[in-house]
Amino acid sequence: QELSLTVLDEVDSTNAEVIRQINAGSKGVPVAIADCQTSGRGRRGRVWQSPRGENLYLSMGLTFHGGFGVLDGLSLVLGVAVANALERLGVPEVGLKWPNDIFLPDGKLGGILVELQGELEEGVVQVIAGIGLNVHMSRADGVDQPWSSLARACPQVGWSRSQIGGAIIDAVFDAVALFSDIGFADFRESWQRRDVFMGKSLKARGGDVEGVGCGIDDAGNYQIRTENGLVPVRAGEISLRVA
Ligand code: BTN
Repeated sequence: QELSLTVLDEVDSTNAEVIRQINAGSKGVPVAIADCQTSGRGRRGRVWQSPRGENLYLSMGLTFHGGFGVLDGLSLVLGVAVANALERLGVPEVGLKWPNDIFLPDGKLGGILVELQGELEEGVVQVIAGIGLNVHMSRADGVDQPWSSLARACPQVGWSRSQIGGAIIDAVFDAVALFSDIGFADFRESWQRRDVFMGKSLKARGGDVEGVGCGIDDAGNYQIRTENGLVPVRAGEISLRVA
């Protein structure tokens, strides 16, 4: 598949840009990168702070055959791909927080937003995978959780955003090809060994599930060991329980 790369100085959201390109009938795999976003979007309707020149804002339009069901686990696969790319660049201790936040020991480094575009034709589904990664992030107004950046975690290394972006695009292509061939099974191990929740005291579903983080099952659900056994969490938010 040919890649159709658009590099923008400014855009509302690279995810929105890829959606526009798909709707305009662009050929190849649409990929958009921007220097800043004026309405960067995060998961759960949140805003993604997207200051100019500091970070990576990247989106790709991906096509899958086999209906919406084949998308189970895709978020996790994308997290593994980003972690692989960063490790290849020499970033140590890259963690993943279910379902697909990228973590370093001192906080969130990046996030992934998967948006369903719809069914192109019977069984052929399209999604937009948007990846935001803090590279030189200097300040984050109104961000309510600890965050990290590559420049802070690895000050000795001066990767450019295009180097990082290239490595991530490569890794996503590889991971998506493998995922399309054989599904999620092969990714479970590589996701699990980066699980930042493993063994931690957690709560989910607004607090009605409490227990200890136990990794993911074959379908990519997060498992919490509670007093009543393992409870799979399919969607929603899991947070650390503060004792
Ligand atoms: C999250 O909430 O953790 C996911 C954040 C995803 C942000 C990226 S930046 C590139 C792409 N364009 C957007 O508007 N959002 C995603």
